Amino acid sequence: MAYLEIFGLGKRFSGVEVLKDVNITLEKGQILSLIGPSGEGKTTFLRCLNFLETPDCGILRLDGETLFDASRPGDRRADRHRRAFGLVFQAFHLFPQYTVLENVTLAPTLARMGRPRELREKAMELLKKVDMQEKANSYPHTLSGGQQQRAAIARALAMDPAVLCFDEPTSALDPLLTEEVLNVIRRLKEEGRTMIVVTHEMGFAREASDKVAFLSGGTVAEMGSPADIFLRPQTEALKRFLRQ
Ligand SMILES: Nc1ncnc2c1ncn2[C@@H]1O[C@H](COP(=O)(O)OP(=O)(O)OP(=O)(O)O)[C@@H](O)[C@H]1O
Ligand SMILES: [Mg+2]
Repeated sequence: MAYLEIFGLGKRFSGVEVLKDVNITLEKGQILSLIGPSGEGKTTFLRCLNFLETPDCGILRLDGETLFDASRPGDRRADRHRRAFGLVFQAFHLFPQYTVLENVTLAPTLARMGRPRELREKAMELLKKVDMQEKANSYPHTLSGGQQQRAAIARALAMDPAVLCFDEPTSALDPLLTEEVLNVIRRLKEEGRTMIVVTHEMGFAREASDKVAFLSGGTVAEMGSPADIFLRPQTEALKRFLRQ
């Protein structure tokens, strides 16, 4: 039994089937890279995992526990498991009126996860982990894109999610800042964090992930090791995508 199991996940928007029969499994401590052409439902998939959208069908299991089953009526609006997953957005989405430190402590404070002083200390540790301790009292608009993204990663880590998801975390960044952010993700992997990364960085997907899933036509058209996907693509769609 895998740590994360997703069976038959589907999602429609006004009758249009964006995701259909998505099946993905992932072991604890592994990185899954999700690749695929624009508009194929990668963001929608991450939003479903984070309960920002409700899947129309499918089952979501984490560590043997069913978090969501579309056929169970009570689950249709359930977001009680939202904290199992964390999401780092493409465009950072830090709260502009708060300092970096306040951005990191806000959610755990609202969730009453500890005393203010403890939460601040934990937040400082996380900021250190992403090399942002010196910017703890800065406001987001004074930071580079790479710094904002690293602060956003610390914020997501503050809730200690079982699976941390990234939606194209580097697509708004130039190559140098991209490398800073990818290094943080590599470091988290060394610490055993389970992650799903939607990415257009094929070099990263190839070298850092344990598993790669290619999303095409709203479903997982191919999934395998980086070598399977990049050296031995099977479908025409993946071969075409890799040529681009
Ligand atoms: N809230 C929504 N309402 C209606 N349609 C939506 C909604 N969210 C996404 N879609 C549609 O679902 C499809 C998949 O979108 P999604 O953003 O998941 O793709 P993507 O693979 O992340 O694309 P990109 O690589 O460009 O980020 C698109 O056709 C999009 O227009
Ligand atoms: Mg997207």
